[in-house]
Formats: sequence, C-alpha cells, structure tokens
Amino acid sequence: MPRVLVVGGTGLAGRAVTAAAVERGHEVVVAARRAPDDDAPAYVDGAQYVTADLVGGGGLEEAVDGVDVLIDASNGSGKQAARVFLHGSRNLLHTAARFGVGRAVQLSIAGIDGSRYPYYRAKLAQEQVYRESPLATRIVRATQFHDFVTAVFERGRPFGALLAPTGTRFQPIAVEDVADALVDAAELTAAADTERTIGGPAIESARSLAEQLKAARGSRRPIVPVRLGGGLGATWRAGHNLAPEHAVDGVDYTAWLSAAA
Ligand SMILES: NC(=O)c1ccc[n+]([C@@H]2O[C@H](COP(=O)([O-])OP(=O)(O)OC[C@H]3O[C@@H](n4cnc5c(N)ncnc54)[C@H](OP(=O)(O)O)[C@@H]3O)[C@@H](O)[C@H]2O)c1
Repeated sequence: MPRVLVVGGTGLAGRAVTAAAVERGHEVVVAARRAPDDDAPAYVDGAQYVTADLVGGGGLEEAVDGVDVLIDASNGSGKQAARVFLHGSRNLLHTAARFGVGRAVQLSIAGIDGSRYPYYRAKLAQEQVYRESPLATRIVRATQFHDFVTAVFERGRPFGALLAPTGTRFQPIAVEDVADALVDAAELTAAADTERTIGGPAIESARSLAEQLKAARGSRRPIVPVRLGGGLGATWRAGHNLAPEHAVDGVDYTAWLSAAA
C-alpha cells in the first residue's frame, strides 16, 4: 500500500481524508503545525502525526520522507491564505520533488476562475503552482462543504438571526464525500495530470437551506436576507459555485443535519 501524506490533515476536510485513507488500508502521515492529542477530535487512530510548517518550511523534509503521494488539504485565512497557498505549496512541492514523491492531490474549490474574491484568487494561483510542479498532479475542485454553508448562515447568530445571502444557490457536499474523491485521486497511479470537479447531490437556494437548518435545530431565529458585497457575493450570485453536471450521489444537507444533531 502506498504511503500517503495528508497536509492539513488535522483540519475539517483533512481529518475526513485521513480517516478515509486509514480506512482503505494506506499508511498515513499527517502534517500540520500542531499535532493533536490522541483524545482530540482531530486525532485519527492509525495515522502518524508530524509537525511541519508549509510557510516556514520547518518539518517538511520529515513529512515527505518515504511518501508516495501527498494530499493537500491545508488552508489559511485572511492574509495567511496567499502565504499558505502560494509560498507554502511551493515549499511543499519543492521538498516533495527533492525527496522523490511522485504524485500530489490538491483540494481546490469549484468555480473560482475569474473571481475577484482574494481568497479564490489565491486558491487559483495554488492550482497553478501544482500544475507547474514536477509531480503528477490531480486537482479536485469541490463545491461548498455542508459545514461551510452552515457557518455562513450562523454569521447571523450575534444578531439572533440566520443570514441567507440573496440571489445565491449552493450545492453543499459532505466532507466525507470530498475525502473519498481525494483518496480515489491519490490512488491513481498513472503519470498524467488529472482534474476533477465534484458537487453535492442537490442545488438549493440559500434561503431553502437556511430553512432546513432552522427546522433541524428547532430554532426560532428569523432568516434575514443579506446581499453579499465584493467578489465572493458576485461569484455566488453568478452561480459559478455550482457544478450540476458533477453532482455526487452523496449525503445531502438534510441528512447531514440529522446526522449532526
Ligand atoms: N470550506 C469549503 O466549503 C471548501 C470547499 C472546497 C474546497 N475547500 C478547500 O479545502 C481546504 C481545507 O479547508 P478546511 O476548511 O478543511 O481547512 P481547516 O479546517 O482550516 O484546516 C486547515 C488545515 O491546514 C493546516 N495548516 C494551516 N496552516 C498551515 C501551515 N502554515 N503549515 C502546515 N499546515 C497548516 C491546519 O493545521 P495547523 O493550524 O495546526 O497548522 C489544518 O490542519 C482549503 O484549501 C479550502 O480552500 C473548502
């Protein structure tokens, strides 16, 4: 079985990737700046943890040593996003190439081409870093995670509301379904580069999804429509975040809410 490195394997998507790869019998190494305690929710039994910093470079050699394929599920917010996605990916891929790692899988986002949203621009630039690397590269672009759209609605919590972006539809997907696609991509041994988009099983308006959240939680908070400004709002209202032709037969939002209850 190949040795798989999950970069950012302690994060939301990374934990699911780590669990899926361990479940399939791979030898799994997780790299992040902090290793979880073995009773923490981020800890996956059977995985090995190393500390490494994509941006600073410390720990990367130990992380990639003996690895056949890496899966990058790292993240950064604000100004850190560009640092992690550009500088960090370059550091990682350069070190991986020096240590003979043959293949890389990058987790990206559906519909980010042409967006003015700085985070999406950084993500697109990260894709380019991966394409230009000497490793055989698989890019998997996913639509918004169920957890993420829930966090968007929950931005209204301080005001006693659920916020629903106007003119916006989502095709949310479970991180476990994304993880399966990433591990599938890691198991492809052909040398050619591949790209794949995956989306959740259904497309629904933000309002309809917020209503499902409200019902599942038994909440009395009103759903307040908000018009999102900037590049993110424009990208979503244009429907670029949707991938109807790439819907997976996975866990839909209602089922995910029931399981999370
Ligand atoms: N949210 C969505 O709906 C969505 C949809 C499609 C794709 N994506 C993509 O999915 C990826 C993962 O997102 P997520 O929400 O799962 O992320 P997350 O929960 O924020 O986890 C980020 C991971 O990266 C690690 N990390 C951050 N900075 C690092 C650094 N300098 N060096 C090493 N590790 C570092 C974190 O651990 P430490 O902090 O301990 O280092 C953590 O393990 C992102 O690239 C995102 O663009 C997200």
